[in-house]
Amino acid sequence: MSTHTWSPTSWRNFPAQQQPSWPDEAALDAALKVLASYPPLVFAGEARALKAQLAEVAAGRAFLLQAGDCAESFHDFVADRIRDKLKVILQMAVVLTYGAGVPVVKVGRIAGQYGKPRSSDQEVVDGVSLPSFRGHNVNSEVFTAEGRRPDPDRMVTGYHQSSATLNLLRAFTKGGFADLNRVQAWNQQFVASSAEGKRYEELATGIERALRFMKACGMDTAAEAQLHQVDFYTSHEALLLGYEEALTRQDSLTGDYYDCSAHMVWIGERTRQLDGAHIEFLRGVHNPIGVKLGPTATGEEALGLCEALNPEREPGRLTFISRMGATKVRSCLPPLLAAVRDAGHPIVWACDPMHGNTFTASSGRKTRDFDDVMDEVAGFFDAHTAEGTWPGGVHVELTGDDVTECLGGSEKILDHHLDTRYETICDPRLNARQGLDLAFRVSERLSS
Ligand code: PEP
Ligand code: CO
Repeated sequence: MSTHTWSPTSWRNFPAQQQPSWPDEAALDAALKVLASYPPLVFAGEARALKAQLAEVAAGRAFLLQAGDCAESFHDFVADRIRDKLKVILQMAVVLTYGAGVPVVKVGRIAGQYGKPRSSDQEVVDGVSLPSFRGHNVNSEVFTAEGRRPDPDRMVTGYHQSSATLNLLRAFTKGGFADLNRVQAWNQQFVASSAEGKRYEELATGIERALRFMKACGMDTAAEAQLHQVDFYTSHEALLLGYEEALTRQDSLTGDYYDCSAHMVWIGERTRQLDGAHIEFLRGVHNPIGVKLGPTATGEEALGLCEALNPEREPGRLTFISRMGATKVRSCLPPLLAAVRDAGHPIVWACDPMHGNTFTASSGRKTRDFDDVMDEVAGFFDAHTAEGTWPGGVHVELTGDDVTECLGGSEKILDHHLDTRYETICDPRLNARQGLDLAFRVSERLSS
């Protein structure tokens, strides 16, 4: 398929899975036209900078932390919510950097994660069948005919919300909030009182002591930008191809096309068909891209994806995000690692320990067990140890809030606790304590 000419619209000649049935074509075209006239959200140079950092991950010299919401909500458009999500990601990054001594590449599932693939087109509740919720760029999670009607104007709202979120993230990460001198301040009240929070506090005290030591030795720590600012990148699933096409722009410096809706975009498990529209679209944009690989993926498919998406074998271009499930990762991942390794493709391997471990609890809530999440991470590391490859990163769904969506963790969330603060509009997320716990365990494994 890569023999024909690519353009930002060439995906339209290929079958596209998981696209909404927009009821009004004219309204869709009008919304996409508006988006195409708007400024890009990110710049090509930033996407290239992330690619260079991911090349370090591919080479085994850095670690990728990709984290954030399953589905961002239009209702969570509140500065404190965005700040708290950033806080827990910064905390996790510090734990990984300090504990494992490797640079951490920080990428949020944020500022654009508004489109969701679904296992079924329709949802049935009490005998009533309505279109499934497909993310706030498409429709509402509210189960009414009006709520579930796909409305293309939502993509325009999604653009504005992404823009404001990104603006806040840029301010937080470059304007003093992410300063390492404030490492203690990222520990939120409800986290600080937990075992992980106390462990974090000890680590933060160690960092503060090290900073004072460097200063006392005569180092000009104020002049070191790396101590005061953080490179934080955005990502989301490139699901709604009309939206992604409308935000694709030609870089004036190189002449290459970039999908300027986010620094990194990925292709989901349900849309990675080699002859499908998502692969066709993503092969032509020069961003760093990801592809999810579930338990049915074969070595041959993985190599097909490498050839289609990264024929030049550019390090940092392609990240494979495995999401096998705790019981399958030890058998399903090694053949993929071996095939890619033997073919010599420079791949970032990240572990999504969330999507293969979802089940419905007896309370009826969709959930994940923190023990399964940690078991999949351990299996991911085992597989890499066996194949001599670099376990490049983790990809997790989390929030900075004190939610009760995933079972277990040190505060032992049980089935009957799930209702207490179950706030996600899609998949169950780790809360800030569980996220921090995961970071400590990964850092132990990385440094062992
Ligand atoms: C997701 O990342 O939210 C998702 C839907 O994942 P997957 O494509 O792996 O199912
Ligand atoms: Co999800």
